[in-house]
Parts: sequence; C-alpha cells; structure tokens
Amino acid sequence: ISTSHGRGMKSLLLLSIGLGRAWAQPGFHPEQVEGPWTTFKLGSTDQSVIEEGGAYCCFMTGITLLENGNLNITYFHRKDEKCVKDFYIAEKTDTPGRYTFEYQGKNYLTFVVVTNDITIIDLDNHSDSSILMVVELHGRTLSLGGLGLEPYRKHTSRRGISQGNVVDLSLYCPACATLE
Ligand SMILES: *[C@@H]1O[C@H](CO)[C@@H](O)[C@H](O)[C@H]1NC(C)=O
Ligand SMILES: *[C@@H]1O[C@H](CO)[C@@H](O)[C@H](O)[C@H]1NC(C)=O
Repeated sequence: ISTSHGRGMKSLLLLSIGLGRAWAQPGFHPEQVEGPWTTFKLGSTDQSVIEEGGAYCCFMTGITLLENGNLNITYFHRKDEKCVKDFYIAEKTDTPGRYTFEYQGKNYLTFVVVTNDITIIDLDNHSDSSILMVVELHGRTLSLGGLGLEPYRKHTSRRGISQGNVVDLSLYCPACATLE
C-alpha cells in the first residue's frame, strides 16, 4: 500500500511540475520583465493572504536582472499602517520563466504571460498538506485600459481561483503606487 501511495504522490508531484513548466511563457527572456511595474490584481485560493496585511498582499514596483540570472524584485507591502519598501531575490530554475524563492516555505514563481504592456505571474507555496496559489496581474503603466484582463481571468480559473477571490490592489494600498 505504501509503495502505491508513494507512486501516486510522485506522479502528482511530476504532474504539478509539468503543468508549471507548460505555463511558463514560451520563449521567455528575463530582459523582457526588467524595469518598473504596477500591480493591478491579486487572486488566491486563500483570500486571507491577499487581503490588506496578508502574507501575499504586495505591490510590485520593479524587477532587476542580476548578473547570475536571478531576479531582484522590489515591492511595497503594508506594515503597521504604513507602506514599506522591500525586495526579494527570485532564483532561476532550469525552466525559462520559472523561479523559486523562500518565503514561508518554498515558492515557485512562473511568468505565465509577458507582453510589452503586462505580465501575469503565478506563485505557489508548497506545504506538506496543501498548495497555496496566488495569481498576479501587473502592468507597465498606471492604467491598464483593459489590457491583460482576459488572459488573467483565464489563468485564475485554470488555477481554480474564483473571481470572488480576486482583489483590485488599488483598493488596498493606493498610496503605494505613488511612493516611488
Ligand atoms: C535588490 O534591490 C534593492 C533595491 O531595490 C537593493 O537595496 C538590494 O541591494 C538589491 N539586492 C541585490 C542582491 O542585488
Ligand atoms: C507555505 O508553505 C509552508 C511549508 O512549506 C507553510 O509552512 C506555510 O504556512 C505556507 N504559507 C502560506 C501562506 O500558506
């Protein structure tokens, strides 16, 4: 029994890794995502992590490509009623467009869509018992004008995130947008 259970777990794991690979933007080049960004939407399988003060409620402002191929991601988040600037390093993996970082466990970050105007980022946090998923929509300018909304809706539903679990970030941390 334990062998077949182990095999089941292994194929589940391979399946989820395979899916993550398949989701990365084909032909991804990290130079495409460098520079300033504005966060528009956050969606999650667990609404509490993207609400104000939640562990994944953050406002991305920029990405720098480091010499070793990793990404330095800057963002603002709310701390004690204030917007605080911070950064994290996303380490590259063998799959272009897919990175990992440590934050309350191991997270995978995948660039699902990258255009000149928008990017859709998929995050997942694996714990022993469950997988937490967060899907983010970012734009290059302060107004999206509808760009990226359709692919964002598609990817959130592919991840099992209902539209009721999507927040418009400007409602939570409007001041962050003007700090930089
Ligand atoms: C990442 O960027 C921040 C500034 O936004 C800087 O303070 C920090 O030193 C950078 N880290 C690395 C490893 O480049
Ligand atoms: C992320 O996963 C870790 C285990 O790897 C778990 O301890 C942590 O609670 C998870 N974080 C969230 C916000 O679910």
